[in-house]
Amino acid sequence: MTFETILTDLENGILTVTINRPDKLNALNTAFFEEMRNVMNAVYLNSEIHGVIITGMGTKAFAAGADVAEFAAYNVEQGKHLSCNGHEVLNLIEQSPKPVIAAVNGFALGGGCELAMACHLRFASENAVFGQPEVNLGVTPGYAGTQRLVQLVGKGRAMEMLITTRSIKASEAEQWGLVNAVIEGDGLHSHCYDVLDRLRSKSPNAIAKTIGCVNAYFAEGVDGFEHEIETFGKCFETEDFKEGTGAFLEKRKPSFKR
Ligand code: COA
Repeated sequence: MTFETILTDLENGILTVTINRPDKLNALNTAFFEEMRNVMNAVYLNSEIHGVIITGMGTKAFAAGADVAEFAAYNVEQGKHLSCNGHEVLNLIEQSPKPVIAAVNGFALGGGCELAMACHLRFASENAVFGQPEVNLGVTPGYAGTQRLVQLVGKGRAMEMLITTRSIKASEAEQWGLVNAVIEGDGLHSHCYDVLDRLRSKSPNAIAKTIGCVNAYFAEGVDGFEHEIETFGKCFETEDFKEGTGAFLEKRKPSFKR
């Protein structure tokens, strides 16, 4: 697949998606969301892909937000459509059965922070900066920033970032739990790759279903506890369960089918 706004690279089942608009600090436009939707649909279907890394081209930005130049003249309907479309694509990332990691290599502002928050894990370079500066532009966040930021850092800290627009550096983001770890030097991508590489020895079905259980905690009208009971039970009829428990009892390493 060739794209206008992203580069993709598949290595040993790990797909790296690089937002490729460095002259615009990787600002996220409509073309990006359409291309990301196509990528995620392929990730769901392609058994060769077992994990995804999303990052930004260059060293300055992961993504400095939604493309302000694109939406500046939008009306109400276009604004709603823009937001709805972004929600759909970020939901595809959050609900992906394959783990998705954000490798945050610089500014993650507005839509960039929202994109990172939709990923299952976030690792950051030392120069990463996280912020939701939308109120400076006269808008609210539109890609679920008001929701996922509360989930990740709590209401008080989310409110501070959202209404004061104070951006936070990588070290503070780590303290707040917004990123899983800050990676020193230039090892960000290889760290993310190694994390996904280590998942190769684990049950793909159990990973997918665990992601679903965690998401169920936040899903409206879903009892996450009940969801877990159902999901746990269903594991018992899977090949992965037979292989995983069998290997443990036989004191050998499991070999899960992909
Ligand atoms: N949308 C569209 N273009 C953007 C952008 C965005 N969110 N963020 C950066 N750019 C563009 C700039 O317009 C500029 O383009 P130009 O060279 O054609 O003028 C280019 O990227 C470089 O940005 P610039 O502002 O010159 O870099 P800087 O180092 O001086 O400042 C930031 C970096 C991140 C502080 C600044 O770009 C910024 O505040 N960006 C917007 C952040 C934002 O409000 N995001 C939320 C959007 S909803």
